[in-house]
Amino acid sequence: MQESQSTRRTFLLKAATTAAAVSAASQIDIAANAYAGAGDSLKIGLVGCGGRGTGAAEQALLADKGNALYAMGDAFASQIEASHSSLKGSPALGVGERVDVPSSRRYVGFDAYKQVIDDCDVVLLTTPPGFRPIHFSYAVEKGKHAFVEKPMAVDGPGLRKFIEAAKLSKEKGLSVVNGFCWRYFAPRRELMARVHGGEIGPIVSIETTYNSQGVWEPDHEQHLPRAKCESEMEYQMRNWYYYSWLSGDHIVEQAVHGLDTMAWAMNDVPPMRCWGVGGRQVRTEPKYGNIFDHFSIVYEYPEDIRGYHQCRHWANTQPRVSDYILGTKGRADVFGRKITGATNWRYRATDGAPPLDMYQSEHNEMFAGLRADKPINNAEKAATSTLLALMGRMAAYTGEVITWDKALGSKEALVPETFAWGDAPHQPVPIPGVTKFS
Ligand SMILES: NC(=O)c1ccc[n+]([C@@H]2O[C@H](COP(=O)([O-])OP(=O)(O)OC[C@H]3O[C@@H](n4cnc5c(N)ncnc54)[C@H](O)[C@@H]3O)[C@@H](O)[C@H]2O)c1
Repeated sequence: MQESQSTRRTFLLKAATTAAAVSAASQIDIAANAYAGAGDSLKIGLVGCGGRGTGAAEQALLADKGNALYAMGDAFASQIEASHSSLKGSPALGVGERVDVPSSRRYVGFDAYKQVIDDCDVVLLTTPPGFRPIHFSYAVEKGKHAFVEKPMAVDGPGLRKFIEAAKLSKEKGLSVVNGFCWRYFAPRRELMARVHGGEIGPIVSIETTYNSQGVWEPDHEQHLPRAKCESEMEYQMRNWYYYSWLSGDHIVEQAVHGLDTMAWAMNDVPPMRCWGVGGRQVRTEPKYGNIFDHFSIVYEYPEDIRGYHQCRHWANTQPRVSDYILGTKGRADVFGRKITGATNWRYRATDGAPPLDMYQSEHNEMFAGLRADKPINNAEKAATSTLLALMGRMAAYTGEVITWDKALGSKEALVPETFAWGDAPHQPVPIPGVTKFS
């Protein structure tokens, strides 16, 4: 392990000579400017060939001309084929020709991740999050760099496994870039730098809202109706959003972006405790699995700072995704890209150009860091943001006040220990006051 690690680092160091001028934090178009002429290539592996995985693979290829997509894995063969042909046919310059995944390197099933990780230098982990700790731990064990989509886990045991692997990844000098993509968006970085620089004064409260119309309709042609699935496991896997063991519920899977903004504003200092409400008011039928359709959580931080979070999945209602940070001297409107109060500021790009797409930025910075032998590793921060969402869910499910330490120590394992095509977990819809914290 040590030897292969040092070989990789030497190889990356050599390659870095062509890219040394590229700053990992810059918004430079890496695809156009960096790595031109370098002969070595990095083998990219993709685990989870759905919407985000296909996007991430394209971004990885665009980020660095030395990258080639080398292996793909998914629970379902049809997902690999659809992703492969979409990437092969990508209109983005140079992407299709660097998709080098013959059928012998397309792996199907619950163990596909092992073969993909064994084959590649850098793995993109983009399955539903229930599997993330398992896949990430294996990648770290094998000494592979990883792009890891959010969230990092769906339960306490999974998050602890992720954190353990995150620590090991640092010791091994691996690059781990996470999918909390707003941290890679130039306007938001500037806004947060101003907040952290004191332009709104000390923070008093943070309000984050993620009210959306929800995701796909389950038991429907779009993701396969129950009648067409061969097993309960196939049905749940194809409709993964509705099962907490796979998605973590929508506060963990989706609204966690707002909670990541809260964590970022608070410099990743954890809250002490949280409490809240949640339930199923609209999506009440059994086909909606066991998740809630709304949450409202209050987070209590040191120095009496409060974080307020609300999210819901209600069709035909007013959507709203917004974040505000209130300080003693002003207010930051995060999506509005502006600060008002003692200081008034609005984001303007210095060159007038629109800011680089945040998803592309993640990959540009990851590969620039690798080429420069300065691997970015922000896995532990991603675990903090994930735990904010997990503790909020635990508070709403149980009706209890949940402390940070209690959430981190939770023994409730939602994800089964083994996976097979047959039956699947039958987890009940939680009822506050009846469902107990464990
Ligand atoms: N950062 C963002 O803005 C953003 C946006 C969308 C999705 N995501 C995240 O990306 C992840 C995937 O979301 P998506 O929208 O691409 O979902 P998706 O359903 O489109 O894709 C998931 C893929 O993973 C496959 N899969 C499931 N279990 C697997 C396993 N054990 N091994 C291998 N493959 C498996 C599925 O078959 C599917 O092809 C989620 O964690 C989601 O939260 C992040």
